[in-house]
Amino acid sequence: MAEKEIVETSEAEIAVHWGEEEYYHPSTEFIAQANMADPAVFDRFSLENFPNCFKEYADLLDWYEYWDTILDTSDAPCWKWFSGGKVNASYNCVDRHLAKNKNKTAIHFVPELEEEKIEHITFQELYVRVNEFAALLRDFAGLKAGDRVTLHMPMSAELPITMLACARLGVIHSEVFGGFSGRASADRIVDSQSRVLIIMDSYYRAGNLLNHKENADIAVDLAEKDGQKVDKVLVWQRYPGKASSPTPMVEGRDYFVNDVLKDFYGRRIEPVPMPAEDPLFLMYTSGTTGKPKGCQHSTGGYLAYAAGTSKYVQDIHPEDVYWCMADIGWITGHSYIVYGPLALCASTVIYEGVPNYPDPGRPWRIAQELDVNIFHTAPTAIRALRKIGPDEPAKYNYKFKHMTTVGEPIEPEVWKWYYNAVGKGQAAIVDTWWQTETGGFLCSTLPALAPMKPGSAGKGVPGIHPIIYDDEGKEIPSGAGKAGNICIQNPWPGGFQTIWGDRDRFVDTYYARYCKDPNSKDWRDWPYMTGDAAVEAADGYYRILGRIDDVINVSGHRLGTKEIESAALVVEEVAEAAVVPVAHEIKGKEPDLFVSLKPGYDASPELEKKISDTISTEIGKIAKPRHVWIVKDMPKTRSGKIMRRVLGAISNNKDVGDVTTLANPEIVEEIKQMAGQ
Ligand code: PRX
Repeated sequence: MAEKEIVETSEAEIAVHWGEEEYYHPSTEFIAQANMADPAVFDRFSLENFPNCFKEYADLLDWYEYWDTILDTSDAPCWKWFSGGKVNASYNCVDRHLAKNKNKTAIHFVPELEEEKIEHITFQELYVRVNEFAALLRDFAGLKAGDRVTLHMPMSAELPITMLACARLGVIHSEVFGGFSGRASADRIVDSQSRVLIIMDSYYRAGNLLNHKENADIAVDLAEKDGQKVDKVLVWQRYPGKASSPTPMVEGRDYFVNDVLKDFYGRRIEPVPMPAEDPLFLMYTSGTTGKPKGCQHSTGGYLAYAAGTSKYVQDIHPEDVYWCMADIGWITGHSYIVYGPLALCASTVIYEGVPNYPDPGRPWRIAQELDVNIFHTAPTAIRALRKIGPDEPAKYNYKFKHMTTVGEPIEPEVWKWYYNAVGKGQAAIVDTWWQTETGGFLCSTLPALAPMKPGSAGKGVPGIHPIIYDDEGKEIPSGAGKAGNICIQNPWPGGFQTIWGDRDRFVDTYYARYCKDPNSKDWRDWPYMTGDAAVEAADGYYRILGRIDDVINVSGHRLGTKEIESAALVVEEVAEAAVVPVAHEIKGKEPDLFVSLKPGYDASPELEKKISDTISTEIGKIAKPRHVWIVKDMPKTRSGKIMRRVLGAISNNKDVGDVTTLANPEIVEEIKQMAGQ
């Protein structure tokens, strides 16, 4: 399919246009070494064997006390996995590997600047650093099991060290994507009631050393205004011992970790045996309202699921060098840079910067240098690298056995470039569909057991049983060629436990629509609604079409339209705001913003810029709209509802359809003219 068409089409239409692709088969070489090449796995993980099948995943961990109940449904739909068990995530990712592998590299940290040396951290060194920082968190910051702490850290070795130090103590970490603003960090500090904020002073992005410390000052001030006082800000330094941010430290509140840490050198902290269902971390994500949701993930279930899927879907072996090019600030990085690979004793690569710095050959040089054999990234990065450096991979001498794609639908043409150019026709590919809420993969092929089909995620992974419902709750069978709302029939250990502090919203958002009996304690009555539309082909493979709610997937990152709209409304002049998704060749989608002004204000390029800048400071650059359209009025229904559908059609250069029933049909023509149509 021509690239031009991709730009112009909506996700649902892409699905219609994408024909059924041919299968690609994994090589015999891959199958011979695969962790899971036994087709009986699907019987073992069938619905008949649910939930006991997940014992296999629990047994990938070391437990202080083995669990007694595999799935406790008494508080449906807040499922409890492996109840009665005690486990520690830090122990499982670090300590237990020391006996045999203490000298093996746990983390390869690759600075963005190519002239800076790659840092290779062994499991022994990771152990030492996690222990010392855990001691600091406990004895200097006063943190204990159950406390929440907000991390606003960039890609660095210190980020997993911080997460694992928290996990060692049972402290619940809540990492905010480094590219998010101080405001976004403040909202998450307030919601999670964190009194400690951990940051890094600066980091490199596209060749620039960014001042990150300033975000901490903004976050702490705004959080305090919203009622949450942060009494300590712990500042890791990009260059230990050297100030890399012009923003001054606040006496009595801000502390350089490297200074304080000296008091804790040599300290060892016993990992705290945590009840399996106690939370390990919060990860905020966007939803249909302006307020981000703190997805609460458990310790035992989450870690078992991250480890199991890393082992069987990503085929991670301890001797592999695994590179997931996502950011740890998203769920992908939590599950598949930190917890999954480290639980399996693999070497995990952390790259600080952007894939095309200083040129689009960079990822392949890193792969060559570190002998990476498993690679994981998102369609956005693949599209960008394909566009700017299609011939680069061939110039470098690396060999991937396995590659993952995640986060958005991948166009078959892009998939094929990934397969042929990046994977050199030798790597198995898995297209993994899942979400922040789900902790780990939902649909994907098992790489040695099922052929790949470009553009399709595949069937449910072991123990995941999807079902597609129409709006009335009737099942749409496979091969019907009709899209519907994809749900999961059963709970699984990686699923989030609730929305932090908002159980009602949790039940309403994910379960209310298809729940068969709200009083039931039987999991069969509670299908999980993912919020995605999908079609199931005759072969049982699922193709994910995109969100059914007000969420825009920009470069594989989820942004709520309401979040962006509320950021625009912060601008004094703005009366109303509406955000619609626009197709973008590289990013998948981009937000387009329409605003109307309060009386007495006039449109101007300066005002457009002010609104756009406000969105960057309120949320982060990632949410910056493609364009700010200042309109005289919004197209509205007679009941006053903004017709986003009409705006979306204009933004995407599409037919607006019948607008005669609107309260103000004439405005549609005006907006179209404004958009040059
Ligand atoms: O719409 C789906 C899309 O990304 C959403 C989840 O986003 P987030 O919570 O940020 O997690 C991203 C990383 C797991 C989903 O609801 N999505 C995710 N993976 C795929 C996908 N769409 C199509 N194909 C995928 N492989």
